[in-house]
Amino acid sequence: MPDALHVGSGKVRELYALDSETLLLVATDRISTFDVVLPTEIPDKGRVLTGLSAFWFARTRHIVRNHFVALRDDGRSLECRRLEMLPVEIVVRGYLAGSGWTDYCATGAISGHRLPGGLRESERLPEPIVTPATKATEGHDVTITEDDAASLCGAKPYAKARDAALALYRFAVEHAEARGILLADTKFEFGIDEQGAVTLADEALTPDSSRFWPADGYAPGAPQPSFDKQYVRDWCLGTGWDRTAPGPELPPEVVAGTRARYVEAFERLTEVPFARYLAAPDVIL
Ligand SMILES: Nc1ncnc2c1ncn2[C@@H]1O[C@H](COP(=O)(O)OP(=O)(O)OP(=O)(O)O)[C@@H](O)[C@H]1O
Ligand SMILES: [Mg+2]
Repeated sequence: MPDALHVGSGKVRELYALDSETLLLVATDRISTFDVVLPTEIPDKGRVLTGLSAFWFARTRHIVRNHFVALRDDGRSLECRRLEMLPVEIVVRGYLAGSGWTDYCATGAISGHRLPGGLRESERLPEPIVTPATKATEGHDVTITEDDAASLCGAKPYAKARDAALALYRFAVEHAEARGILLADTKFEFGIDEQGAVTLADEALTPDSSRFWPADGYAPGAPQPSFDKQYVRDWCLGTGWDRTAPGPELPPEVVAGTRARYVEAFERLTEVPFARYLAAPDVIL
């Protein structure tokens, strides 16, 4: 890419600087589970993530400003405004799942939010809660309290970001439920732009950053089948893998099953056939 300077690699994205204000975020087909990047790629996964993020960026500007500038024709590269990122991830949970369920079982609370007793796994919470986490530079993210997040970010930027995250979550829940999908939880990243405004960044409301469950067949009291990485996680654990690098190679049927789940989430949420997106990504905006 002659017009861009490579400035960083995440587990999933490559970052390039286009100029001093603009970044190009390229979502690769890499997949990570338990924070380990697997040796096998999922074809088009990066396009699903970029397309879905762009879909939400285009529809949520009335809630909070975001970093979106343009989508490139490859369907996986997003031009965005370069921000000073807040040092926390803002997780919103509407249901008891994953590490939220684990913390609730151990302490009756998540991230300092005390919850009613007797809730079951995957049960809907009385109200969505915000459970921030630090962005661990290596290893797993660590859940912290909202007070700790406010000290790390500054009270005002944190309050603005967490209110925006809750509003985005509620907006997406309504959109997804109308299409037969429950949004159990999701993670947002925010940054501060050149005017000092809290701005939504990174990816948004994708299967990598969220737990999507099919609404039909929802049955609290157990883990739910999902559109997200749970399928590939479960397959990996079934091999006896100990969750440390390197992860196992995925066989072709698991690659195909994972790709199909990502594409299904894309099509159900956007109502745009994935092939149409690939032919002309801007249809998603
Ligand atoms: N507008 C933006 N300005 C600056 N940085 C951004 C912006 N949007 C996203 N980022 C950063 O770009 C990176 C995206 O890469 P990716 O999603 O692969 O990372 P990750 O694996 O989730 O996390 P890590 O950065 O810890 O590897 C993240 O570090 C994210 O914070
Ligand atoms: Mg990321």
